[in-house]
Amino acid sequence: MKLKELAIKFNSELSALYDDAESQALFLMALAQLLHIKHHAYLLRKEETLTTSDLAKFEGLLAELVTGKPIQYIFGEAHFFGLSFKVNPEVLIPRPETEELVDWVIQTVHNSPLASGHKRLLDIGTGSGCIAIALKKHLPQFDVTGLDMAASSLAIAQENAELNRVEVEFKWQDILQMQHTKLQEPYAIIVSNPPYITQTEKEGMHQNVLANEPHRALFVSNEKPLVFYEAIANFALLNLGQGGLLFFEINEHLGQETVDLLNHKGFKNIELRKDMQGKDRMVCSRL
Ligand SMILES: C[S@@+](CC[C@H](N)C(=O)[O-])C[C@H]1O[C@@H](n2cnc3c(N)ncnc32)[C@H](O)[C@@H]1O
Repeated sequence: MKLKELAIKFNSELSALYDDAESQALFLMALAQLLHIKHHAYLLRKEETLTTSDLAKFEGLLAELVTGKPIQYIFGEAHFFGLSFKVNPEVLIPRPETEELVDWVIQTVHNSPLASGHKRLLDIGTGSGCIAIALKKHLPQFDVTGLDMAASSLAIAQENAELNRVEVEFKWQDILQMQHTKLQEPYAIIVSNPPYITQTEKEGMHQNVLANEPHRALFVSNEKPLVFYEAIANFALLNLGQGGLLFFEINEHLGQETVDLLNHKGFKNIELRKDMQGKDRMVCSRL
């Protein structure tokens, strides 16, 4: 079988789960991972015939993909902000919109240096550790901590810190339990991408997300969709230093509600931003 025929096979076998563009993206990821052929090289090599053993590798992969398993879990690897992260079904696969949040944090620090002194940064709901690790890589002057309620996620986050050669402290904590706790030392920045998908939105989601990614990372009740934002805002009121910054990734349908919540709590300079798809996706505010 030629490479270009394999591309067609991906489209037809995955058509029940993915549209053509998604299937092609999966094919190109598979090509890069299994044969180390990058996108531009594929265009030059698409007439090449696969060896029997290479074809068997792609067929094995397709057999897993048709079950709806995300390719990142199959390979155990995801890319985020130019870094490589180990992933398994205990952690959410890092998303491109979260890269935009990380970029906003870095640009904000570069453009408006925070008051001097001890610089501490906290990532709440760290999962794979992608936010905390990418920020430590680009803002090495900060002491970075990531917390999560799932010990299994923290084990992966720790491995990812080692993989990317950064020092990040990981803590096993439940933010809902500690929202009224004041710690000894304040943070300069708190950032979080907490669970924010409502039960109603869950019904319209892609089967491969529903069946494979950890529900504790994704979902909140219809009645209290901002439960994590309220808890994190309460925690930030007690634990951000003067002028400290709070960054959130948010549900695209709850931009104004999140702004109102922060306003009500007394945060200042609240800014709501859209992601590259034009959806309300992140908020920054200052204490
Ligand atoms: C949307 S995921 C974000 C993961 C990662 N930060 C990212 O951006 O890809 C939310 C994370 O919050 C964690 N989480 C859920 N409930 C929590 C709680 N009560 N306290 C702390 N972390 C919690 C989940 O385990 C999950 O890792």
